[in-house]
Amino acid sequence: MNSVQRFETHSDEETRALGRRLAAQLKGVVLLIGDLGAGKTTLAKGIVEGTGAAPADEVSSPTFTLIHEYGNPVKVYHADLYRLDTAEQVRRLGIEDLFDKPALTLIEWGERFPEVIPPIHTEIRLSHTADDSRLIELREPTSQN
Ligand SMILES: Nc1ncnc2c1ncn2[C@@H]1O[C@H](COP(=O)(O)OP(=O)(O)OP(=O)(O)O)[C@@H](O)[C@H]1O
Ligand SMILES: [Mg+2]
Repeated sequence: MNSVQRFETHSDEETRALGRRLAAQLKGVVLLIGDLGAGKTTLAKGIVEGTGAAPADEVSSPTFTLIHEYGNPVKVYHADLYRLDTAEQVRRLGIEDLFDKPALTLIEWGERFPEVIPPIHTEIRLSHTADDSRLIELREPTSQN
């Protein structure tokens, strides 16, 4: 059975703090799922900081660059596939090469390309519950439990 953890945050700083706390339990591929402005990048900032790879203020949205990497050796990849339209474009980006690496791979808008995402992955869903409040649900893959 998949385990689901639920959280609610009430500010972007609370979401970053949650990311810092969750970092230790995350591994492999993590899809960050939610509407524009749901807080995916904000959570990613906290996760990157929590791994020790970089401080949150050095983490920016990879909307235009598509993939950012943090740490040396790389501990976290952070991808944003919003601007891509086809699975072929995603593959050409070389994202599949990241899946074999001993790093955490955070992906925004990755759920649009299920044929490219490895079947074993963690999902974190973010949704607005009020102006500054977000429901954040983490579902771990069965085979990692
Ligand atoms: N509880 C909260 N958690 C996260 N962000 C919040 C919260 N309350 C307000 N915000 C604001 O919501 C916005 C979230 O932006 P963010 O870039 O993290 O979203 P995103 O999901 O990555 O969007 P996009 O799909 O455009 O990449 C920020 O402006 C942030 O300050
Ligand atoms: Mg974002």
